[in-house]
Amino acid sequence: MTESEMLKKVFTFGLIILLSFELVVAKNSSEFESNIFFEFYNERSELTYTSNSLGDDLVSGSGCNPSENVAIIVHGWLESCKTTWIQEMIPNLNDHRGGCIICMNYSAYSKTFDYFGLVSEFSFIDDVLVNKLHQLVQEEFIPEKIFIFGFSFGGQLALEAGRRFGKKLIGRIDACEAAGPGFDSNRTYSMENPMESAKFVQCIHSSYDKGTTKRNCHQNWHLGNCGLTQIAAGPYPLGSHGLCPYFYNSAFTNPFHAIPKPENCPTSDRLPPIIPDGMAMGYVFNDLSLVNETVGYDYYAHTFKRKPYHLDIDLFNKN
Ligand SMILES: *[C@@H]1O[C@H](CO)[C@@H](O)[C@H](O)[C@H]1NC(C)=O
Ligand SMILES: *[C@@H]1O[C@H](CO)[C@@H](O)[C@H](O)[C@H]1NC(C)=O
Ligand SMILES: *[C@@H]1O[C@H](CO)[C@@H](O)[C@H](O)[C@H]1NC(C)=O
Ligand SMILES: *[C@@H]1O[C@H](CO)[C@@H](O)[C@H](O)[C@H]1NC(C)=O
Repeated sequence: MTESEMLKKVFTFGLIILLSFELVVAKNSSEFESNIFFEFYNERSELTYTSNSLGDDLVSGSGCNPSENVAIIVHGWLESCKTTWIQEMIPNLNDHRGGCIICMNYSAYSKTFDYFGLVSEFSFIDDVLVNKLHQLVQEEFIPEKIFIFGFSFGGQLALEAGRRFGKKLIGRIDACEAAGPGFDSNRTYSMENPMESAKFVQCIHSSYDKGTTKRNCHQNWHLGNCGLTQIAAGPYPLGSHGLCPYFYNSAFTNPFHAIPKPENCPTSDRLPPIIPDGMAMGYVFNDLSLVNETVGYDYYAHTFKRKPYHLDIDLFNKN
């Protein structure tokens, strides 16, 4: 064999390995199924059970009661279930909602600097969440009692999984700064209607560049400066985008009340005729019996420089 023949052989062999590696890593959904974990937390917010395949028995394994509420938290790019806002959200959900609290851990894929590489794996990762929803229902959990919170890339995962699981089947999705890049530019994807993803979908916006520019959820919240920038913004991970789940966590105890559209904010044809009393951004202040009156509108709320990121406007007025 000449040297060039040998090189050719090595090259071809390498290429085959590379191609099959691609196939296994990026195109085999059972690979995604086995690398993504669902972490179950008990009422003391301790991790008690981890499930990562369809074979697991959630009811007896996790200790969750299928007649109770289920909350699934979906983290974003570069994050995992250990990310600070998630560890803060678990006790908040325990205090204000209860039931089964699950975090979807796809850090095997999210911890990459290649954001668009992650976007290309979107539907494989989303399949795993859709499968878990089907499994919950097979084990007699009630779709209406399922709530998903997703931040950024996780917001898009939540919206797409809800829609694919069944139109308006699960109870509620709160999407905080659902990612814009890679999604808004996809004409097929951005035609989808997020209001089909759950019976009630609250979308919360805090940045102009990393979150979606779409405003088509049941409630569209514009935080701080018109939902475009935040006075509290600092370096990563607490920029205008990254603050969103921290604002949401704060809202469990500090109401971010709806205010009339600030004059400097762009005009909107989705301004509510009236703002219901006590209406605020977040989980606890959205009484679903009031939701029908608030559907399709834009809401605005102040944010503040420092934790808890909100001072009620009355405080400003009194001082
Ligand atoms: C996916 O990959 C696993 C091993 O990583 C393999 O056992 C399985 O047969 C593959 N499935 C498909 C459909 O290719
Ligand atoms: C979360 O996923 C990562 C990456 O696969 C894994 O190393 C880690 O053990 C998982 N955490 C839990 C609690 O399952
Ligand atoms: C756009 O979104 C659709 C539906 O989610 C997906 O199948 C397609 O691959 C995406 N296209 C690009 C270029 O990302
Ligand atoms: C809200 O509207 C939907 C569809 O019109 C209706 O089915 C539902 O019962 C209403 N909910 C409340 C609480 O009024």
